[in-house]
Amino acid sequence: MSYFSTVPQAPPDGILKLSVLSRADSDPSKVDLGVGAYRDDNGKPWVLPVVREAERRLNEDPNYNHEYMGVGGLPALTDGAQQLIFGSNSPAIGQGRVYTIQTISGTGANMVAAVFLKQFKRPADAAVYISKPTWGNHRSIFETAGHEVREYKYCNYKTLTLDIDGMLDDMRSAPEGQIFVLHACAHNPTGIDPTEEQWQQIADVMSERGHFPFFDCAYQGFATGDVDRDAYAIRLFVDRGFELLVAESFAKNMGLYGERTGCLHAVCQSSDVIPQVSSQLNRLSRATISTASAYGAKIAATVLQDPRLYEEWLQAMQDMSQRIKTMRDALRDKLVALGTPGSWDHVSQQIGMFSFTGLSKLQVDTLRNQYHLYMTDDGRISVAGLNSHNIDYVAQSIDAVVRSS
Ligand code: LMR
Repeated sequence: MSYFSTVPQAPPDGILKLSVLSRADSDPSKVDLGVGAYRDDNGKPWVLPVVREAERRLNEDPNYNHEYMGVGGLPALTDGAQQLIFGSNSPAIGQGRVYTIQTISGTGANMVAAVFLKQFKRPADAAVYISKPTWGNHRSIFETAGHEVREYKYCNYKTLTLDIDGMLDDMRSAPEGQIFVLHACAHNPTGIDPTEEQWQQIADVMSERGHFPFFDCAYQGFATGDVDRDAYAIRLFVDRGFELLVAESFAKNMGLYGERTGCLHAVCQSSDVIPQVSSQLNRLSRATISTASAYGAKIAATVLQDPRLYEEWLQAMQDMSQRIKTMRDALRDKLVALGTPGSWDHVSQQIGMFSFTGLSKLQVDTLRNQYHLYMTDDGRISVAGLNSHNIDYVAQSIDAVVRSS
């Protein structure tokens, strides 16, 4: 009998399985709206021109090499990432109470944070609260690290808007000192973000109850096209005096998906605890990835540190978010023009890479099996997969399926 015979089969990943299914589908009408990855108007991945320029500079640098990086990562990246998230004039950075470690993109940052919190959270039995719904990997990451994971209300599934009252009630009724996973902007999968006023209410309740905020920030610059606006919630919490952790990814906003480039930031009350916190984060990182990965970090650092490339990058994010916004409006308009039953305004109103369409699991299955249109089981579409060539087909397919069900 195999040593491994008692290993149970794990369920497939709800997002990544779609890429496999779609790749295996050779139908010419196929449209992949599954994984959240930016596509241009021809449905092709887009290498940002600033990334190409940074790569050219790296390759031409006579000192370029593949030596190990430090365990904390590339300082030019971690410094630049800190300023991007907290603002270049951030008092917390000035006071030396932020520590940043480079991670394997946002997922690695989530995992390092999850293991760190499992070891050092106070109270030791604090649960981790994730939004209902949330990115499919959040539960898996925090459970794998050994936390009890609970949900807080987030989406009103009838109106497809934020259930702010339910969210605040759940935060109030949770025991004191729980860990809350918050999406900094462009909530995945719903595309529904709190307003600035609602973030202030959330901060009020979190502060009253002594909850610990963990921000997952995978879409800075993608939500509104403006990196500062998209960092509003994080900066608000820092200004309010919270200690917190932030996972940051450069997958979407720099298009560095496969390079796995990201950071984890710890904001502490004072610089006194930074040596302890940084030593533990470094230890955890050393135990899992040994030293930080180099290539994506060098690219991102080049962009963040060069004023001209940085400005061009800001423009590229505006271009990407604007194309997505145009596609949202186009899909809404086409569904309205077709007279598709239901209201479709939410498709335009939601923000970031995704739209939470409200389509049922049955409708999603029909779209996948009969129309070669791939989206996650919960009805999430990656709006970045829409373009001027496939938008009519997508709208007509949704229309047909909604009418027949
Ligand atoms: C997504 O939600 O599609 C992306 O964040 C990709 C991923 O890793 O799940």
